[in-house]
Amino acid sequence: MIQTRALLEAREEAGSALSLRLRAPDLAAQLVPGQAVLIQTGWGYDPFLRRTFHPIAIDSESFAIRLAVDGDRGRAWLRLAQPGAELDCLGPVGKGFILPSRARRILCLGGGDAAWTLLPLVQRAAALGHAVTLATDALSKRQTIPAAMLPISVEYHIATIDGSAGRKGALSALLPELLPWADAVIAAADMDFYRQLGRAIEAARVLPPKGYAQALYQMNFLCGTGACQACAVDIAGGRRRVCLRGPVFDLVDILR
Ligand code: FES
Repeated sequence: MIQTRALLEAREEAGSALSLRLRAPDLAAQLVPGQAVLIQTGWGYDPFLRRTFHPIAIDSESFAIRLAVDGDRGRAWLRLAQPGAELDCLGPVGKGFILPSRARRILCLGGGDAAWTLLPLVQRAAALGHAVTLATDALSKRQTIPAAMLPISVEYHIATIDGSAGRKGALSALLPELLPWADAVIAAADMDFYRQLGRAIEAARVLPPKGYAQALYQMNFLCGTGACQACAVDIAGGRRRVCLRGPVFDLVDILR
């Protein structure tokens, strides 16, 4: 993990959200999809705590983060930052997704805004020649990932709550038809969805083998170094610090 100053290179509207591209070659070179970056969101120590982001794009010199509209003061400050600003970043935090070497067909499942954090993994898996399906849900078409952002080889399924794009309903409704196809599952969503996913895997595959599904445990990190204990939760059979053991876990460990 390193602390570095990242140059804000570009800001771009993405539906109701904003994406910021940050140039930080030392940090970008170490980043794996699913890992977190903690960013200071003020010029001084107010607010004191950094905000947690899982990049939505990673290349050798830079990474991008997505800022959805919410009431958080730190993220509101970040929304106003202009190209040329330097932002204090700490990362990468924790363990990211691992592309299973023997899996050929990768099913990526993204619930709500967390779906965007799967984009670097989707890009990487497609570039390595895996067959990739991405399935996401969102409130409406406005929040969905534009198909143009995906590699052409990726099969894309959308469910929206209001029915304005793809299938009407939630992501879980897509599982029965998609799971039998997949050699491996990569997920970024909430705990409710992970429980539904666990049940759907059991129904489709008899036994949910360890290593079959990886899932991003979403939370805000305070220190990101294992020092403050604020991220300790009951997971993987004990009390664990998510910033060290995760934030990507085997789904079996999240559910037990
Ligand atoms: S965020 Fe401080 S121990 Fe994990």
